[in-house]
Amino acid sequence: MTEIGRMVIRLEEVDSTNEYAKELIGQGCLEGTVVLSDIQTGGKGRLARKWESPKGGLWMSICLKPKDGLVGDKLGIIPLLSGCAAARAVSGISDLNARVKWPNDVIINGKKMAGILSESILNGEDRWVVVGIGIDVNNPVQEGYEFSDISTSITEETGRKFDLEKLMVQLICEFERLYNMAESGKDAEVLDEWRGMADTLGKKVSINRISGEITGIARDIDEVGALILELQNGHTETILAGDCQHLE
Ligand code: BTN
Repeated sequence: MTEIGRMVIRLEEVDSTNEYAKELIGQGCLEGTVVLSDIQTGGKGRLARKWESPKGGLWMSICLKPKDGLVGDKLGIIPLLSGCAAARAVSGISDLNARVKWPNDVIINGKKMAGILSESILNGEDRWVVVGIGIDVNNPVQEGYEFSDISTSITEETGRKFDLEKLMVQLICEFERLYNMAESGKDAEVLDEWRGMADTLGKKVSINRISGEITGIARDIDEVGALILELQNGHTETILAGDCQHLE
């Protein structure tokens, strides 16, 4: 059983908690170590985007050394289970109905509230994964920010402020539960939980991949979390990674 958060490192300001977590791994930190920062000056999003990280949000990274049911292709399940954990934690503290958008965004009423950046690194011979989770909580989404019209925060949705500590504890609990299920071979159950919270399935979507854009109906995910897309010609395509946009 992997314990998450036995060691929690709290910072006032850092460039990126993911970068800090990678340094900790290099220094031999405990698996499950969590890094939190009030502010990130160089927060990173997926696809090399900048991640706005002002005070009031939850910016954290988890250091993992996956084993057993989470090796090889199954590493792809980690971002999905992270999205589920974040959505459950948000719903748990706020009564909002948080859902997941493939692969791992947390959305409320179609707007993004949280994102996950999962990075795989080698430390000597050992494979480690840093899961970075960013949740817009008490911070208004900044005007002029590239994605401000499609982003939201818990406070913008509810008009209330929330306790970041409580959210962090719920997130760690949910993450630990799902991560240990997946590591112990119950990955199919984890993926079923993702399906139950998914806003993407059954929708017409467009996926932006390195190899180009593709449009279709999101039918399901496979055993490693890849998206199964039904194309207009009736064929299916399995998408391992990309940026997903809901078209309906
Ligand atoms: C996305 O593009 O949706 C992923 C955003 C991930 C942001 C989090 S905030 C904590 C961690 N540190 C980073 O620099 N990024 C991740």
